[in-house]
Amino acid sequence: MNFELTEVQRDIQKTCREFALKELIPNARKWDEAHAWPESAVKKLAELGLLGVAVPEQYGGAGLDNVCYALAIEEISRGCGSTGVIMSVNNSLYCDPVMKFGTEAQKQEFLVPFARGEKLGCFGLTEPEAGSDAAAQQTVAVRKGDEYIINGSKNWITVGPKADAIVLFTMTDKSKGNKGITAFLVPTSTPGFNRQPPDKKMGINGAWSCTIYLEDVKVPAKNILGKEGEGFKVAMSTLDGGRIGIAAQALGIGRAAYEEALRYSGERKTFGKPIRDHQAIQFMLADMATELDAARLLTLRAALMKDKGERHSQQSSMAKLFASEVASRVANKALQVHGGMGYSKEMDAERHVRDARITEIYEGTSEIQRIVISANLLKD
Ligand code: CAA
Repeated sequence: MNFELTEVQRDIQKTCREFALKELIPNARKWDEAHAWPESAVKKLAELGLLGVAVPEQYGGAGLDNVCYALAIEEISRGCGSTGVIMSVNNSLYCDPVMKFGTEAQKQEFLVPFARGEKLGCFGLTEPEAGSDAAAQQTVAVRKGDEYIINGSKNWITVGPKADAIVLFTMTDKSKGNKGITAFLVPTSTPGFNRQPPDKKMGINGAWSCTIYLEDVKVPAKNILGKEGEGFKVAMSTLDGGRIGIAAQALGIGRAAYEEALRYSGERKTFGKPIRDHQAIQFMLADMATELDAARLLTLRAALMKDKGERHSQQSSMAKLFASEVASRVANKALQVHGGMGYSKEMDAERHVRDARITEIYEGTSEIQRIVISANLLKD
């Protein structure tokens, strides 16, 4: 395994690092406090080609690899966890399945403007009664002539309030269980597509999510993504890629927390010396740095396997499981390094704890990742 990044990979890392320093870090706390959508940051993501990183240039993307994508998400999330997941949803959960399963006509309509960042996409799998048990879809699509009529609801749809289209999962034949699920490409302007106000959450407050009610939403049959009845596989293989994005997001949030703790430990003095001269603090910093490096190696391995076209479900789940739990551990230790100030809204430490926590839940909880990993370990 080659641990050296290529020149292109180092370039994208540098570009994203500079963008984060100049435009994300100075604004992230403000966006969090105001629960504000980071409009200027999303516009800049589009300008930098970061909304379709691994989409080929002919379809409006930057034509880079998934290692570049993971490096970019880490840097962006280090600047702002909310901006990081917005980027991840458009790239991994929307563009990736359209690229992989879409027809040429679907790619022209539903990929090109989204990879260019002129439009935003989202992913509609989760329902009130189908979170971890993704096959228990209740949203129904019934065929009438050349179109389907969709009724049901989706919740926790990240980017939902701003999205122009959605990869929507429905049940087209309840008797077939997970083989009765079909994915559709649906413009959010379709009559009957009703979005609720943004959810009130503990963290990633800038990354708006919402509940969606679907009331007699008419979608042409040509908008089926993949084949009828194969939606579950579309969802699962999309999440194999999405979990790399969330692992990288977790890594970025964890790194932001660690770097703040490192900086603060040089400023704050106790017992006559900077707190970083106490071994108790040094050991915390050592654990944080070690765990973050390990999480990065797992994340880049999964990205590299995706680039090579190898099945990477297990490795994506390992990366997502480990990186998300590391992010929470690191963010909590970083808060501890700050002492009382860590609990104050005047510092970023408490935001990092709140932002890190969701990475253990969305795109499959830690428990779901352990199911995927153990199922792969036991199948041979
Ligand atoms: N790629 C392709 N096919 C796959 C696959 C993969 N990674 N994983 C499973 N499949 C196929 C299997 O091969 C199987 O097909 P066959 O029957 O033909 O053999 C079929 O799918 C069913 O597989 P399982 O029996 O393993 O499925 P299951 O029902 O036991 O559940 C699960 C699997 C892992 C628990 C799954 O339900 C899961 O991942 N749940 C979590 C859902 C999730 O992550 N939701 C996140 C929502 S998105 C989000 O959070 C966005 C956001 O806000 C940012």
